[in-house]
Amino acid sequence: MSRKAFIAGNWKMNMTAESGEKLIKELAPLVKNASCDVALCVPAILIPAMTKAAQGTNIKIGAENVHWAKSGAYTGEISTDMLKEYGVEYVIIGHSERRQYFGETDESVNKRTLAALAAGLTPIVCVGELLEERENGSTEKVLDKQLTVGLNGIEDITKVVIAYEPVWAIGTGKTATDEQAQETIAYIRKKIGELFCPKCAEKVVIQYGGSMNAGNCKGLMAQPDIDGGLIGGASLKLDFATIVNYDK
Ligand code: PGA
Repeated sequence: MSRKAFIAGNWKMNMTAESGEKLIKELAPLVKNASCDVALCVPAILIPAMTKAAQGTNIKIGAENVHWAKSGAYTGEISTDMLKEYGVEYVIIGHSERRQYFGETDESVNKRTLAALAAGLTPIVCVGELLEERENGSTEKVLDKQLTVGLNGIEDITKVVIAYEPVWAIGTGKTATDEQAQETIAYIRKKIGELFCPKCAEKVVIQYGGSMNAGNCKGLMAQPDIDGGLIGGASLKLDFATIVNYDK
């Protein structure tokens, strides 16, 4: 398979410049021989300091969100130019916490994703169903809408990373089983094949996210369609290195 594995952390609203720098300095020697791509997506205000801390390492610093406008009257938002000034390459878009608490919709996810791509950033677009949606059998329908609307108008889908994050597994300690994650991610790949082209879908990196940790990463990463992980809680500690070294 030509897809390169990609493990990314999502610090969410955690860490400070001081604790973040300490963690990156400790992680760097532990992950330096990783066979996968490695990134830590951090709060915007920490990007300059974390970029400096990660200099000369294989840890890339990413962002947790980006606005679609070049600049303007959007209090509290961050533009692609601001991210690029610090060498940011990756940006998480449409995380379920943004959808749940900050009114993010598939339409706004689409605008942010198109802007990120136009600026040469790699968007990590998050999709995933709620517990009640899994229980009432509408997971595929929910994913269809998130993918159809969220990825609308993308010219080269291979430049996008998808993170499948079942909302019921995020921060709950309740991971999807290897089989559930594989089955759903295979479905996402099939859907991307229908929306774009089957050949392109084979090239798209799709991560699993939701209570992925040092203990369950090997089983998840062994699944044929799972190309990586988006790691919340476990990216705040040295466990992140164990996940990055899942194949060692
Ligand atoms: P978690 O978060 O690993 O803490 O469940 C994953 C995520 O929200 O990206």
